[in-house]
Amino acid sequence: MAITLRSKLLATLDTVQMPTKVEMRQGAPNKNAHPRQKVTYEEGRSLRYRRENCGRRIMKAVKALAPAALFAVFFCAGAGAEDSKTSGPAQPPGVPAKEFEAKAGYCETCHGLSARGFIGTNPMPRLAGQQPGYIKNQLQAFIDRRRLNPVMGNVAHVLSPAMVDFLSTHFKDLDPPPYGGAPKDLMSEGEKIYHEGVPSAEVPACETCHGQDAYGMDQFPRLAGQLDGYVIAKLTNWSKERGQDPNNPDNSQVMGPIAEKLTKEQIAAVAAYVSDLK
Ligand code: HEC
Ligand code: HEC
Repeated sequence: MAITLRSKLLATLDTVQMPTKVEMRQGAPNKNAHPRQKVTYEEGRSLRYRRENCGRRIMKAVKALAPAALFAVFFCAGAGAEDSKTSGPAQPPGVPAKEFEAKAGYCETCHGLSARGFIGTNPMPRLAGQQPGYIKNQLQAFIDRRRLNPVMGNVAHVLSPAMVDFLSTHFKDLDPPPYGGAPKDLMSEGEKIYHEGVPSAEVPACETCHGQDAYGMDQFPRLAGQLDGYVIAKLTNWSKERGQDPNNPDNSQVMGPIAEKLTKEQIAAVAAYVSDLK
């Protein structure tokens, strides 16, 4: 069984096109642009390119894991809407620049300077460099209470749809160094798990979906530089926090079975590894 999954995944990797760092950065918005003009033509084009590949790639990755072709629907469901948004002007109507800047500053009071993440009572996740498609999904999941967190639930609940759109793309350009602090001695085991998975436990390589450099893509989150305490907590509590509305299943179902199969030690190792990636 393990061998079947492994070979299926290898076959998937042969055909699945994960973006290289260069491809993913090609569309990087101009850092000097006014926030209202953040999404450049190149960015729009690159998002469209990614979207066209989205359905095929995800179908293959997900089919390799479970007989649930169903998931592909969720993944690309938002695609059309975002596509038209990025090919037009970046600024959604109804968000005055000042209001937006105040809100983005408010996010940093918890998520750290430049949204690098912060360790307080609980680790606050890094948002810097995070994929807009993923951030948007999470904000909506907090609003819908599909993703449970009392603090973020309240923060997200008051955001207008236009503000959600704007905030989703805001963090992509920030590039502070990783917060750091994870145990170095776990990193080589983590690296192996990240790139090869755990075939004996039918855990696929993380890079299949999160990318070789852990930059993620679209609705697949970036893991590079994510705080290790946060990654450990999320993988440990996945089934209690994510996908909590059975009538409205979401992308969390793709990650759930993987999180469940990882042992405590494997979680600690892979979390240490990704947290150190720039
Ligand atoms: C009062 C503190 C606080 C503030 C302010 C705050 N957050 Fe959060 N945020 C959190 C915590 C805590 C989590 C982790 C939730 C969890 O563990 O599931 C989180 C998680 C998130 C996530 C999910 C990250 C991931 O990797 O899945 C997103 C997206 C997010 N916040 C966006 C925002 C945005 C945008 C703002 C500003 C409007 C904001 N947050 C303001 C505390 C805060
Ligand atoms: C088949 C694709 C797939 C594979 C393989 C995969 N993931 Fe994920 N992962 C996802 C998706 C999709 C999400 C976002 C789920 C959501 O939107 O709720 C995710 C989310 C996560 C998150 C939450 C990020 C955050 O900011 O809260 C972590 C941590 C994570 N994955 C770690 C891993 C690790 C470690 C591995 C390898 C052992 C792995 N993933 C393999 C698809 C995958």
